[in-house]
Amino acid sequence: MKELCIRDSSNRMLVGGSSFKLRAGETLCLIGESGSGKTLTGKALLGMLPFPLKWTGDILFRDEPIRRFRGRDWQRVRGKRIGTIFQQPEQALHAAIPIGRQLGDLLRSHLPITRLAAERKAKAMLGKVSLRDVDRVMKSYPYELSGGMNQRVMIAMALLLEPELLIADEPTSALDVTTQAEILTLLKGLSSENKMSMLFVTHDLLIANYLADTIAVMYRGEIVEQGRATDVLKHPQHAYTRELWQYRSAFMLP
Ligand SMILES: Nc1ncnc2c1ncn2[C@@H]1O[C@H](COP(=O)(O)OP(=O)(O)OP(=O)(O)O)[C@@H](O)[C@H]1O
Ligand SMILES: [Mg+2]
Repeated sequence: MKELCIRDSSNRMLVGGSSFKLRAGETLCLIGESGSGKTLTGKALLGMLPFPLKWTGDILFRDEPIRRFRGRDWQRVRGKRIGTIFQQPEQALHAAIPIGRQLGDLLRSHLPITRLAAERKAKAMLGKVSLRDVDRVMKSYPYELSGGMNQRVMIAMALLLEPELLIADEPTSALDVTTQAEILTLLKGLSSENKMSMLFVTHDLLIANYLADTIAVMYRGEIVEQGRATDVLKHPQHAYTRELWQYRSAFMLP
């Protein structure tokens, strides 16, 4: 991604000139304060900016400019090769279809597999995102599950088709710490086993420390600092990153 700028209808710049590169199997953590442009950056990469926002710059997916993707190409890329987890699970899940059928349909729309094989695969993935009582979850509608359970269903959905790239926008911030740890371990495992790349948005430097190969720090719409995770965390250059670090340590036990 090169020189990404996002503007609103009155030409106000919301994201200004961000560039980064994500290699196969690598994780980039995007951190920054609320409103700094993290979600918009993720959405732009998916060609999913809300109307009437516009972007300029170059976004390449596997060397192909995403501007060239049209309706059906996007469906293939977004559905299968890029997985997404956004902040609100309600948007990704269909309210009137049981979870099992949603996962099964997704699998069968992209892979030539039987209903039974799809069901087995869906159940296995629900187990991997630490859901217990998988049979009940398969039969449930989203409103019958808790927020955290739906969040995990959405994570399972994003991972089901073994995407090459996962764009995850604070996917675990609504979960308890144990579940969060299990999911982060799962994601880290998939990124090394399947060479899955991740763009992971988080406010939490400890998560960034665990997952990231590289870190980009956004501040008021710009990437103000980026580099190898160890460098950014050990020697933060920008005042905002330092502040974030101090704030984090203030809450830690001595
Ligand atoms: N649809 C929209 N129309 C106009 N402005 C928007 C729209 N969506 C977001 N913005 C503005 O763009 C800026 C960046 O928003 P964004 O959602 O990317 O922030 P963020 O870094 O993800 O914040 P958070 O950590 O709170 O999720 C904000 O100033 C926001 O007000
Ligand atoms: Mg956001």
